[in-house]
Amino acid sequence: MCGIIGCVSDSDVLEILLDGLTNMEYRGYDSVGVGVHDGKTIKVIKVVGRVAELAKNPDLKSTCGKIGLAHTRWATHGGVTPENAHPHLSCDRSIAVVHNGIIENYQLLKNELELKGHIFRSTTDTEIIPHLIEEELKTGRNQRDALLAAVNKLKGSYAFLVLFRDLNDRLYGVRKDAPLIIGLGGNKNFVASDVLSFLKHTKEAIFLDNFEVAEVRRNSYTIWNFNGEEVLHTISTLAWEATSFQKKEFTHYTLKEIHEQRESIFKAFNQDINEVDRFCLSLQGVNRVYIIGAGTSYHAALIAKHLFIKMAKLPAEVILASEFEDYIPLVDEDTLLLAISQSGETADVLSAINVGKRKGASVLSIVNTPTSSLARESDYTLYLKCGPEVGVAATKSFTAQLAVIYSIAFRLSNTAADLQRLSKAVNRVFDVERQLAYLAQVFLTAKDCYFIGRGLNYPIALEGALKLKELSYIHAEGFAAGELKHGTLALISEGVPVVALNPNDKTYHDTLSNVAELKARGAKVIGVSDVANPLYDYYVEIPSVESIFYPIVEVIPLQMFAYYSALERGQNPDYPRNLAKSVTVK
Ligand code: G6P
Repeated sequence: MCGIIGCVSDSDVLEILLDGLTNMEYRGYDSVGVGVHDGKTIKVIKVVGRVAELAKNPDLKSTCGKIGLAHTRWATHGGVTPENAHPHLSCDRSIAVVHNGIIENYQLLKNELELKGHIFRSTTDTEIIPHLIEEELKTGRNQRDALLAAVNKLKGSYAFLVLFRDLNDRLYGVRKDAPLIIGLGGNKNFVASDVLSFLKHTKEAIFLDNFEVAEVRRNSYTIWNFNGEEVLHTISTLAWEATSFQKKEFTHYTLKEIHEQRESIFKAFNQDINEVDRFCLSLQGVNRVYIIGAGTSYHAALIAKHLFIKMAKLPAEVILASEFEDYIPLVDEDTLLLAISQSGETADVLSAINVGKRKGASVLSIVNTPTSSLARESDYTLYLKCGPEVGVAATKSFTAQLAVIYSIAFRLSNTAADLQRLSKAVNRVFDVERQLAYLAQVFLTAKDCYFIGRGLNYPIALEGALKLKELSYIHAEGFAAGELKHGTLALISEGVPVVALNPNDKTYHDTLSNVAELKARGAKVIGVSDVANPLYDYYVEIPSVESIFYPIVEVIPLQMFAYYSALERGQNPDYPRNLAKSVTVK
């Protein structure tokens, strides 16, 4: 998955495109490219690396034009090379394409096009698109009709933009199963994967639906479906502020977002009670509830399951979005899918809910991005309200997800909690930040790290391990503490760090026994707890809270540990290698 942006303006677009790409680097950052129409030809420059690399390219100095497109890549088909970076061109260089998604039948189409004499310069699936359009133009169709004819031959999930050398006043955008949004900026219009890329210029946006093609000019646009029939859309006004993308005094977005949790958790708790009630009614009114998520959102789903059972005796099953297919035979009109996602664009999640909807299931979601595909495709949505999250690793969105889940669980069980006390506790967690930076130094050369916890603390063990893997590249695993003796103990040897999540709840004594077993085998134990114990080599003190809230005060130190471990090892925590924040491919 990748980020794409196009702009048609009354002035030079190069800076706008590069700036827009920078705000979408979370979608991929292994290579980058830009194509600008200079009035005569489409000039293309592409490099391996991030937008900053492209910005240094001397060829950019002589590149200017009022219409262009650009791309930041997360490789799927074809290695990370300048040739595989986008834009891709037709044989005669008259058609440039940037693409996010996967063309599933590209091999077949490529064979056919090669037989017709097309020469391919890359090993990507994307490159077949400009060649296919080029072929359709040969039949005498105009550009729009050639594009529609080509689109109807593609299989897969994609959003892409097309710039024609022979039409230097418009761009085309095509959407099927990957986001694409038009931004209306008065004297310049945009079409991009994410509103973040043009939010600085306009808050007026149109969210394209699947199977739509848009023609975007400097101050007008037209949208058709894949049959060529015109479609009308309403214009949305975006709620987010461009200023929320500034790092402020922090060195990295990740650290800023970790700190924002002092407030963001409580903004997420502040849900409209009627909306929550509506959610609860839906949850209680069905036979089966499946909670779906990926990555960090899957860990939030595990906590939701614990809380729904514990507080409301509401049974629910948690399924990794990418594994949902096996459950399809059980889905019917009496099934509810609760999808949890920060971006609301994760392809595995969208695919699961679409299949579920086709079988009659209702869909609730917990989402951060109000304008996302998931929010638009759900029956009801509760929002995280934590503002845009830029760091690739989820931090504030995770605790906001927990806050929304708590709000639901409280309503389901007709209970409430002392949020003022929790707020004080969350502020106190930050007292351990220096200690976590120190521990990151202590374990600078560690090759492995394990995390253990029981009950509600087990998903936090998984999340702590995921954060450490993502940011520092240390091999890390989270385990249910009780499972240690069933295999994992074999991995423990002298000096191996183990983080024990052991708050003063009903799991305390059992987990302490597991700590003793670990110590007996030489592990260096970091105890995350509100009760000190001599068994811990290092004691990270968390504040005492109501037992259901321990996940919140435990996870923040683990986020800090991962952040500082990345810094110690010379990695950029905002942009971990090989990852992307929003995974729009399956
Ligand atoms: C990617 C990100 C993870 C995130 C996961 C799910 O893998 O790198 O940080 O947890 O997607 O994303 P979502 O937007 O659905 O919560």
